[in-house]
Amino acid sequence: MSTQDFETRLDEAADRVTVALDALLPRADGPESKLNSAMRYAALGPGKRLRPFFTIECGRLVNADERGLLRVGSALECIHAYSLIHDDLPCMDDDDMRRGRATVHKAYDEATAVLAGDALQSKAFEIIAHSDTHPRGEIRARLVERLARASGAHGMVGGQMLDILAETEEFELSVITRMQRMKTGALIAFAAEAGCVLCDVEDHIRRALDGFAHDLGLAYQITDDLLDVAGSAEAVGKAVGKDAGQGKATFVTILGVEGARDRARRLADQAKDHLEIFGSRADVLKDAVDFVLDRRS
Ligand code: IPE
Ligand code: IPE
Ligand code: MG
Ligand code: MG
Ligand code: MG
Repeated sequence: MSTQDFETRLDEAADRVTVALDALLPRADGPESKLNSAMRYAALGPGKRLRPFFTIECGRLVNADERGLLRVGSALECIHAYSLIHDDLPCMDDDDMRRGRATVHKAYDEATAVLAGDALQSKAFEIIAHSDTHPRGEIRARLVERLARASGAHGMVGGQMLDILAETEEFELSVITRMQRMKTGALIAFAAEAGCVLCDVEDHIRRALDGFAHDLGLAYQITDDLLDVAGSAEAVGKAVGKDAGQGKATFVTILGVEGARDRARRLADQAKDHLEIFGSRADVLKDAVDFVLDRRS
């Protein structure tokens, strides 16, 4: 598959998710319109939409229903948008810029940002629990359980806690690895798994997608950490040099820039190896791995 084909597929998935979210999110109306407006500002902003892309493309590999995949991908993007709003707050990373524009607490205010994050999280579960996601209640309940686990104390939020502690604690590489797998890897693993929950899939297929996501998730965050060191704020759309400024331990501080790059490349190759059982049908996902690694934003 050519880079052009991959980019077309990514754009197509991103557009479909943006249209779906636009319909699913509350309209700015009534006295609480500030909240709705902040939710829309965060979730409809110019992000890459890579998590829903992985949801849709991994789901296609196992022939999961397209409408269900789009809804689950949209729900996952709501969780991601909520995580970014809270990550940017003054009590966390204290960032003023995200996706090339003001962060939510800067464009609105801190209280609205906290509430918009909370409401996006609830919205995600409302979307998944609706019967349009899957006709069978037990499948929807399993998706709710998996997303709750991936986003909560065992996943993203737990990883964010470790990330804050990494500013003051001397963590060794094994703890940093666990932190990155939790804060970024868990939601990406959910993206890859969702299609297998939506339809019955043999164990070896599920394991292959799980292995793929495991390696991709870590490579994703290492690349983000590398962009923090070597990227430009203009290209990445957010401040750079933050991790070092906060004395935060990352793969880059422990392994150095070249060491972190090598590690990310090795993980990316491993991620692609997991996809071999799908043959050329997985080419778009292999291209996505390269995109994740080579991205400048
Ligand atoms: C940024 O995620 C935060 C991380 C977990 C690395 P993305 O790089 O996917 O951000 P957007 O959604 O494209 O802005
Ligand atoms: C954030 O990691 C991961 C989340 C769970 C939101 P970072 O703090 O490194 O993300 P950026 O660099 O602000 O996007
Ligand atoms: Mg952070
Ligand atoms: Mg941050
Ligand atoms: Mg970062």
